[in-house]
Formats: sequence, C-alpha cells, structure tokens
Amino acid sequence: MIVKEIKKNVYGIMVNDWDRRLFDELIPLPDGTTYNAYFIKDKKNVLIDTADPRKTEKFMGIIKEISGGKIDYIISHHAEQDHSGSIPAVLSAFPAAKIITGEKGAVLLNKLLLTAEDRVLTIKYEDEINIGERTLKFYSTPWVHWPETIITYSPQDRVLFTCDLFGTHLATSNFYSSDYKVYSAAKRYYAEIMMPFRNHIRKHLDLIEGLDIEIIAPSHGLAHSNPEFIINAYRDWTADNVKNEVVVPYVSMHGSIDRMVDYFTDALIKREIAVKPFNLTVTDTGELAMALVDAATLVLGTPAVLGGPHPSALYATYLFKILRPKTRFASVIGSFGWGSNMLKIITDMLPSEIGIIEPVIVNGYPRQEDFNSLEKLADNILNKHRELK
Ligand SMILES: Cc1cc2nc3c(=O)[nH]c(=O)nc-3n(C[C@H](O)[C@H](O)[C@H](O)COP(=O)(O)O)c2cc1C
Ligand SMILES: [Fe+2]
Ligand SMILES: [Fe+2]
Repeated sequence: MIVKEIKKNVYGIMVNDWDRRLFDELIPLPDGTTYNAYFIKDKKNVLIDTADPRKTEKFMGIIKEISGGKIDYIISHHAEQDHSGSIPAVLSAFPAAKIITGEKGAVLLNKLLLTAEDRVLTIKYEDEINIGERTLKFYSTPWVHWPETIITYSPQDRVLFTCDLFGTHLATSNFYSSDYKVYSAAKRYYAEIMMPFRNHIRKHLDLIEGLDIEIIAPSHGLAHSNPEFIINAYRDWTADNVKNEVVVPYVSMHGSIDRMVDYFTDALIKREIAVKPFNLTVTDTGELAMALVDAATLVLGTPAVLGGPHPSALYATYLFKILRPKTRFASVIGSFGWGSNMLKIITDMLPSEIGIIEPVIVNGYPRQEDFNSLEKLADNILNKHRELK
C-alpha cells in the first residue's frame, strides 16, 4: 500500500494486489495489479473511486485515518467492482457521504451494488462542483471500457483522474511511472482492455490534450508525472496505421502445423517482415493481444479437429474478433486428415472488413509443394504490406 500526497491536500491511495493473477477471470496479470483511489481534503472532502472488494478491509483502514471522519462526496468514475466495490462499505461508515456519478453510472451502481438512490447525486456531463479551494470538472468519456465511464479534472491541481484509462496492471512500490518501465505494461493493458474502443479513445485524447495537466492519476498501477509520454503512446496505439508485422497464433497436435509455422516464420523473416508466432498451448493471451496492437496481418495455424478448427484456434479467432485490433489482413495455415469445415468456421468469424489472403490448407504432413504455397503466402503478405505504404 502507498499513500502519497501528490499535491497539497490531494492524496493517492494505491492498494497493491501483489499476487492476483487473473482479472475478470480472463486477463492474465503476470505482475499483479493495484486499485488506486484518491482523496482530496478541502471544505468538502472528496474520495475518488475505491478499491476491489478483495481489499475493502485494508482500504477502509486507510480511508478512516486519512478522512478525519469526514467524507462529503465519493466520485464514482466507473461502476466496475474493482473501483466501486468498496463504495457500500464507505457509505455505511460515512452516513453523510453522497456518491457523485453520471446518469449511466448511477443506474449501473444501483444494479451492481444495490446502492440506494438517495445516496447518489447525478451529474450532467461537463458539469463542475465547487468543493472549497477547488472546482472539480467532470467529463464524459464513454467506453473506456464501459458505457458509463467519466473522468475528473482538478484545474487548481492540474491533475486528471482517469480511472481505468491510462492504467497498468502492475503491483508496485513506486507511485509514479518511469517511462521505460511502464511502456510495456501500459501497452499490454491497452491491448487487453482498451483496444476494442480505440475510436472512442481517440476522441477522448483530443479532449484531454486540451487540458493543462501535470499529473495523470489512473486507478490501476503507476501514475504519470509525464502525461505526454502516455498520451503519445495512446496516440500511436489508437492510430489507424499498422506495422509490417504478422502475428501467427497456432496449435499443433502431431507436428504438421508446427512444421508449417516454423517454415512460414522463416519465410517472413527472409522478406524482412516482423513475425511473432504464438503456440496457443503455452500462450499468455495478454502477450498475444499486445502483439495485435500494431500488426498488419494475422495468420492462424490450426489442424482440423472433429469437423472444425482446433478449439484453441477458435478461441484465438474469437478473441481477435472481440478485441478488434486494427489488423487489415488475415489468412489460415491448416492441416486436415479427411475433411473438415475449419476454414469456413474461421473466416466466418473474422470481422467482415478484414482482407482474406489465400490460405494454405494441407492434407496431412507438409510436402515440398506445400512449402511452395507457404512461400507464395509470404509473398502475398509482402505485397499487401507494400501497398499499405
Ligand atoms: C482428435 C482429433 C480429431 C480430428 N478431427 C479431424 C476432422 O474432423 N477432420 C479432419 O479432416 N481431420 C481431423 N483430424 C486429423 C488432423 O486434422 C490431421 O491429422 C492434421 O494433420 C493434424 O495436424 P497437426 O499434426 O498439426 O496436429 C483429427 C485429429 C485428431 C487428433
Ligand atoms: Fe474497468
Ligand atoms: Fe479497473
């Protein structure tokens, strides 16, 4: 746990969850995470977000101490329980406290946490509230990564509280990021959580760039005392341009796909195309998501299993579909024994705007003619990538 006065009377409260290894029962957390809340002491005392229910007891211990027994407002940026989950405990310990949130946030908090409606003050977007020496401004930033999300700006402090946006899943004993350490964790977090909403995020970046900000204070991981660094990284990741990279998620039961992917990887390297193969049996999906942030092309490698693709390949295809990376092209490397519908099942699942490059589907173990087809696939990809420039 870290409690840090980031500005006079503005405290960051970072509750570490060092050994959490999975988020939303989906996202691997190799480095744990933190739940960050913030506390502003002014004429009105304001708590910004809370902590995951796993850490309520610890969180409440800090809050009782830091608040001096007085909380007027609890700003809830996001109704997901990792930030809102300790709100019921705060409400019962501080009977005068009211939640401040947007209209959609109010509905979700009521549904998810059963919060009483008379404890909620609903703000209009672009609203502001004077709390004494400060006037806090609220902005609507829908879809980072839920529909109700808002952010809070304190112009007097030049601090922007962004909740999930610009977060990192990284348990840490530092409060501020050092750029080289945070980049990879922030990219992974973006890939897993924010990537499906990059068009929304681009608009929010325009808004944020118009504010005078010294500190970006998110609700996971490190805070950013160099806001430009993380904003520029998000600009890059959300931009439409793709890189000369191919991501190859694959699975192989008896070695045919293994052999083809190995050959194909070398064929791409020979053409100076960056390639990242991911053996799905041992892949951390966060790494795969991260590789998809910039890659121009996806090539799935799968054997036929019981009439369709291998379930691991289907899972990877589904993940690709819901993460909505900016990837432009896709193809398949397949191997079958007697016949299957795997190609159609995969291509039907891919987003319609993806350009399909002629797949290489082999009967059994690959022979010379199949390696020739893989060379052709690599050439086709090279040509498509050249057209992008
Ligand atoms: C459990 C299992 C189920 C299979 N189901 C099918 C199938 O439905 N259709 C088919 O054409 N081949 C099927 N096969 C054959 C494989 O797709 C074929 O052997 C392929 O070459 C395996 O590729 P790999 O060596 O990369 O695992 C199946 C193989 C296994 C082990
Ligand atoms: Fe969230
Ligand atoms: Fe979160």
